[in-house]
Amino acid sequence: TGRKKIALIGSGMIGGTLAHLAAKKEMGDIVLFDIAEGMPQGKALDLSQCGPVEGFDAKITGSNDYADIAGADVVIVTAGVPRKPGMSRDDLLGINLKVMKSVGEGIKNNCPDAFVICITNPLDAMVWALREFSGLPHNKVVGMAGVLDSARFATFLAWEFDCSVKDVNAFVLGGHGDTMVPVTSYTTINGIPVNDFAKIKGVSESRIDEIVDRTRKGGGEIVGLLGNGSAYYAPATSAIAMAEAYLGDQKRILPCASYVDGKYGLDGLYVGVPTVIGADGTEDVIEIELSDEEKSNLKVSTDAVEELLEACKGLDSSLA
Ligand code: APR
Repeated sequence: TGRKKIALIGSGMIGGTLAHLAAKKEMGDIVLFDIAEGMPQGKALDLSQCGPVEGFDAKITGSNDYADIAGADVVIVTAGVPRKPGMSRDDLLGINLKVMKSVGEGIKNNCPDAFVICITNPLDAMVWALREFSGLPHNKVVGMAGVLDSARFATFLAWEFDCSVKDVNAFVLGGHGDTMVPVTSYTTINGIPVNDFAKIKGVSESRIDEIVDRTRKGGGEIVGLLGNGSAYYAPATSAIAMAEAYLGDQKRILPCASYVDGKYGLDGLYVGVPTVIGADGTEDVIEIELSDEEKSNLKVSTDAVEELLEACKGLDSSLA
């Protein structure tokens, strides 16, 4: 027993935010790993010095040596490069695939029993590749996207309806790209289907469509505004929710990029689906009923993911 160990591979904008959140929540001791020398050590010192002010006990260290992630209970991966304005997530494939190879080996050799949450983009392809390179069981490797995408959807809906974000239960399926599928039929405002609530509030269908579209492009909107780098606060807090579900055996149903083999007519693919997260990692995938239009939108999205997997196999023959 003793404290849990959280290893963060990549100590950039998301990695640093993850470390701060995990420390504040006293989820365990934290190792910030990065290939950049000095940076994770510097962030670890800075974050450690939040402890006396915020009142948390967590040992936070920085490292450039994979040996220091040994025995980690949870690994959250953000290593790689983020988007620049005008880039799609898919444009990162070549660079980040190589990064996943070294990270996968680092995990395999040092903490093969960990629960691994991947954030690096293009997400659905990178989590698949990371699983392949690490050799961990599929239920122990998952991608963070749906919690973030549905948080974006919920935020925009709460603004539109002038209601509390706490009452919005937003639902997003599919790949973490411009083809993602915000599912309005399963989105509710405290149990009231969103389309019914829109009628009550006098919000038009086309306005809901605009919100769906803004959700799909939600990451790009932030990339454009920041000018340098991509979103990090909400991605980090979304991954922390997933880590807490695992560490606390919460059996939460969260939209995650999970391995789907059979359900949704899919054949061994990582893509965003409602997933039960508990002490066994991704314990189950919930297959919901979809309309024909939702099914065909999901197909467009999974086809896009499959294309990226083919591209990965073309770039690295060990994946073929
Ligand atoms: N091993 C470990 N760390 C690496 C490697 C590697 N091979 N290559 C790059 N890194 C590190 C960089 O040194 C950097 O510190 O990954 C870190 C990434 O941090 P940022 O550039 O700040 O990017 P961030 O905003 O955190 O996003 C990381 O998550 O959302 C995705 O698209 C985003 O793929 C990107 C990732």
